[in-house]
Amino acid sequence: MQVRLWVALFSVLAAAQAARILVVLPTNTRSHYAMYGKLVEALTKKRHHLTVISHFPMKNAPPNLEEISLAGTIPDITNNLTKQHYSWKPDIVRNLESIMTECVHACDVVSKIPAVKALVNSTAAFDLVIVEIFGSECFLPLGQRFQAPVVGLLSSVPLPWLNEQLGNPDATAYVPAYMTGFGQHMTLWERFSNTLSVIGAKILYKYKSQLPSQAIADRLFGLGNKLESLAQNYSLVISNSHFSINEVRPVVPGFIEVGGLHLDETQKLSRELKSLLDASHEGVIYWSFGSMSRIETIPSEKLAQIFEAISELSQTVLVKMDRKRLAANLTVPDNVYTMDWIPQYATLCHPNVKLFVSHGGLLGTQEAVACGVPMLTVPLYADQALNARSMSDRGVSRTVLLRNTSKLTWREALHDLLTNMKYKENMLKLREVFLDRPMPPLETGIYWIEYVLRHKGAPHLKSPALDLTLPQYLLLDVAVLSIAIVVMTTYILHILFRYLCTRCIKWCPNENLLSEKRIRNFSVFLCLLWRYKPKAQ
Ligand SMILES: *[C@@H]1O[C@H](CO)[C@@H](O)[C@H](O)[C@H]1NC(C)=O
Ligand SMILES: *[C@@H]1O[C@H](CO)[C@@H](O)[C@H](O)[C@H]1NC(C)=O
Ligand SMILES: *[C@@H]1O[C@H](CO)[C@@H](O)[C@H](O)[C@H]1NC(C)=O
Ligand SMILES: *[C@@H]1O[C@H](CO)[C@@H](O)[C@H](O)[C@H]1NC(C)=O
Ligand SMILES: *[C@@H]1O[C@H](CO)[C@@H](O)[C@H](O)[C@H]1NC(C)=O
Repeated sequence: MQVRLWVALFSVLAAAQAARILVVLPTNTRSHYAMYGKLVEALTKKRHHLTVISHFPMKNAPPNLEEISLAGTIPDITNNLTKQHYSWKPDIVRNLESIMTECVHACDVVSKIPAVKALVNSTAAFDLVIVEIFGSECFLPLGQRFQAPVVGLLSSVPLPWLNEQLGNPDATAYVPAYMTGFGQHMTLWERFSNTLSVIGAKILYKYKSQLPSQAIADRLFGLGNKLESLAQNYSLVISNSHFSINEVRPVVPGFIEVGGLHLDETQKLSRELKSLLDASHEGVIYWSFGSMSRIETIPSEKLAQIFEAISELSQTVLVKMDRKRLAANLTVPDNVYTMDWIPQYATLCHPNVKLFVSHGGLLGTQEAVACGVPMLTVPLYADQALNARSMSDRGVSRTVLLRNTSKLTWREALHDLLTNMKYKENMLKLREVFLDRPMPPLETGIYWIEYVLRHKGAPHLKSPALDLTLPQYLLLDVAVLSIAIVVMTTYILHILFRYLCTRCIKWCPNENLLSEKRIRNFSVFLCLLWRYKPKAQ
């Protein structure tokens, strides 16, 4: 007993040992950083020594956090909705292409930064490398460079190519792909498009991301680091999804869902905002398209329709937008209150907020669920259509497409969401399941990162599927073997019966045999006899 206690204590001590961790976050996406930053902060609180390469240097960084700032190297990515509105490309292709182009560009820029090059060439030692998983893998060779296991951070549900790298089944029969807007119960046509999209996405990834990323990695790390095989060597992937609000999907044990990890209970409302929300007794509609999509860039005729629908409401509408950038011929209704920046989680959880008009970004969706606020979703790009669909399938939101709306669509959707209590009730139920976890999501993430440290990369988490070839994985070889067995067996039986039957017919010739009642009852035998009879004669 005592020995066991000591062992337990020792393992706790081992866990608490400080590790040297390198974190590389090359893309300039503030919303993703809301998740990554939380993990970085929590790891520093656990006294690990962190070196973080990111666009968002921390204010008042503690001494055990060393930063290589990328701030200013890549302009803020913003999405011009007017441009997107008139784009001819199908959303699925446009979505993936823009993600890959952005990420490969980020890799290229970051790989040329002197401090990054110096780090790669330095004698520094790390026990763990944490990389962002998005549209490019160019920094994966850091794992080999420092002989350290690699953990991936993912701010969405798995991208199609990631499933393959981890050994997660694609299960396209019931798991809609990242860039589709399908639900989990698909029609034949949807399953067909879903499957084709997944295959197409993987091919696109190979040519639009992996090839150019390989060139960047070769330049930075030297030849001999094949990204394709390094990508199959993640020790762990921490994903910002959760089955309660995303899809039910089959995943390997090294894929850990921590959706809701970024929820910031310490967020505070400004005095101005608080008094506005407190005073709005009719209720508040909060409208934001996140940090990357500006509401001002919606085509002005669309925006005019939306404003007209809003002006008929009695609620206060709080909008995150820059009024100065609006087209001059647009009039903002009197009940609209605009701000450049709004603490979203604290706002959504204010009791007067009745509805969240959102683009369906995963972080905002999680905040709405955690506060129990129904949503009107206007998906714009990336996984937003998928998130919008998973919410509307749960009866907590409605979706409108910017391309396909009139004043009437908006009026009808807003009216329905504000008057039908079903949405609120469903959202409160969803809130309960979303928040019910064995451990808070941030602790779950930290636990698993330290687990990988404790077990030296935890190779036992890796799926054996990764050692199989595609025909083996798809059981094509088993199918061929099964068909061969069936064919062989049939052939042998055929030979056997032909032999027996011809013997039989020779022994008791002609109709005596067939007319004999005893045999007639064995109709199968009769059949076979009939089949082989001509041969025998
Ligand atoms: C968005 O794109 C439209 C059309 O391409 C352009 O006229 C407008 O100036 C752009 N807006 C911003 C904020 O970049
Ligand atoms: C990398 O380090 C080696 C020696 O360790 C040095 O010769 C070389 O110049 C360095 N390269 C860069 C780009 O700093
Ligand atoms: C995979 O990762 C482990 C550590 O987790 C490392 O020992 C091994 O060398 C890596 N394999 C490849 C091919 O990089
Ligand atoms: C505002 O003016 C632009 C041209 O400057 C026009 O294309 C647009 O349709 C106008 N919007 C409205 C709501 O009248
Ligand atoms: C477009 O809007 C109409 C009604 O305004 C609706 O019936 C139709 O289903 C919508 N199409 C899509 C693709 O959402």
